[in-house]
Amino acid sequence: MSREEKVEWLINQSAQPGKLRREIRSHLHPDPSMQEIYEEFSENTVSNFFIPYGIAPNFLINDEMITVPLAIEESSVVAAASHAARFWSAHGGFHARVIDTLKIGQVHFSWTGSAKKLQALFDKEKKHLLEKLDPLTERMRQRGGGISEMELVDRTGMLDTCYQLHVSFHTADAMGANFINSVLEELAQTWKAVVDNATGKTGEGELTIIMAILSNYTPESRVEVYVETAVNNLQSLAKEMPAATFAEKFVRAVEIARNDTYRAVTHNKGIFNGMDAVVIATGNDFRAVEACGHAYAARDGMYRGLSEATLRDGLFRFTLEVPLAVGTVGGLTSNHPLARQSMGIMNNPDAHKLMKIIAAAGLANNFSAIRSLVTSGIQQGHMKMHLANILRQLGAGKKEREQALLHFKDKTVSHHAVKEFLETLKK
Ligand code: MEV
Repeated sequence: MSREEKVEWLINQSAQPGKLRREIRSHLHPDPSMQEIYEEFSENTVSNFFIPYGIAPNFLINDEMITVPLAIEESSVVAAASHAARFWSAHGGFHARVIDTLKIGQVHFSWTGSAKKLQALFDKEKKHLLEKLDPLTERMRQRGGGISEMELVDRTGMLDTCYQLHVSFHTADAMGANFINSVLEELAQTWKAVVDNATGKTGEGELTIIMAILSNYTPESRVEVYVETAVNNLQSLAKEMPAATFAEKFVRAVEIARNDTYRAVTHNKGIFNGMDAVVIATGNDFRAVEACGHAYAARDGMYRGLSEATLRDGLFRFTLEVPLAVGTVGGLTSNHPLARQSMGIMNNPDAHKLMKIIAAAGLANNFSAIRSLVTSGIQQGHMKMHLANILRQLGAGKKEREQALLHFKDKTVSHHAVKEFLETLKK
């Protein structure tokens, strides 16, 4: 079916066909050739789903001032990122470094023969296996990436007959999923042929390839970002208490997240509010980033908060170390028109720099969230931002919205309070 036919099919099943048709149409790109670009990203596309695209200026990262684009539907996230960025730009900014960018891929297979003989065969054939991959890895090697290591892993202790070829990659400025998967599929076939050839006649065992796929767990593709300042400098953030008390409460809140999983998940959600927004705005894969970040948060067997805060000799330091696999070339990053513009807004970062920016956005949001939590509470700022959504839900007109914004400037916002206020206005 064409898109129009799919729309008709869908509308025929709707209880409100007119409304659905209007919404679907009004969300299409006005330029059909641009609409075509969006349609090609996915399948059965009937329209587009908008989420706000905002900017957080004043991110001073390693002495470079960067404006960070954020694609996010949740109110307060852009405000939180901007506020923290502005504060830290006056206190040394974000200090960030990439620890490594190593990525992993696996060929999973079953082998019924001797583990020792398989290892001997692997050792003998390893060079040949890598050489067979040369044509596939050539371009990536020219860009400074390629295969860094390959080993045979015996997982029979975990699962009967279970083995893996465990391959490490560097993928330069690409996220590298397509490259890694193509290499692994080729490797799987060559490895099967090598083993069959060596053992076929003797019947020493049988090898069955199960699957070949990259791992989205990239604990060695990691970035660290921190902010640091004298405790006294935090005073402007905590009017209701001395700076030292604020800093102590802040550190305590971070410690709680490191030791309590219920709190850790929410704490990390706040980090990913910032990280995901940049990941999405740059056309990167936020599911991969999230899955990996959460696995890393549980790397010692308990799910913990990802950031750390310390107070030493009157210095407050707040750090986030997080795994990240993102790219600045290829995939949606190159094809999505706004993702391309996001790169331009950030001075066209390479993959290393993008990792630092994403981590800084995560730390900024985490900082603002904890600051609110240990001072005024989260609802004051959040509900102010949410007021516009409530007014829209309640069908308030332009004039009523303006009056409500004025009225709730110094009052607590709640759905009930806004409803009552609108009713008073009507009366
Ligand atoms: C809301 O999206 C995120 C927070 O709950 C994070 C946190 O509690 O640290 C405010």
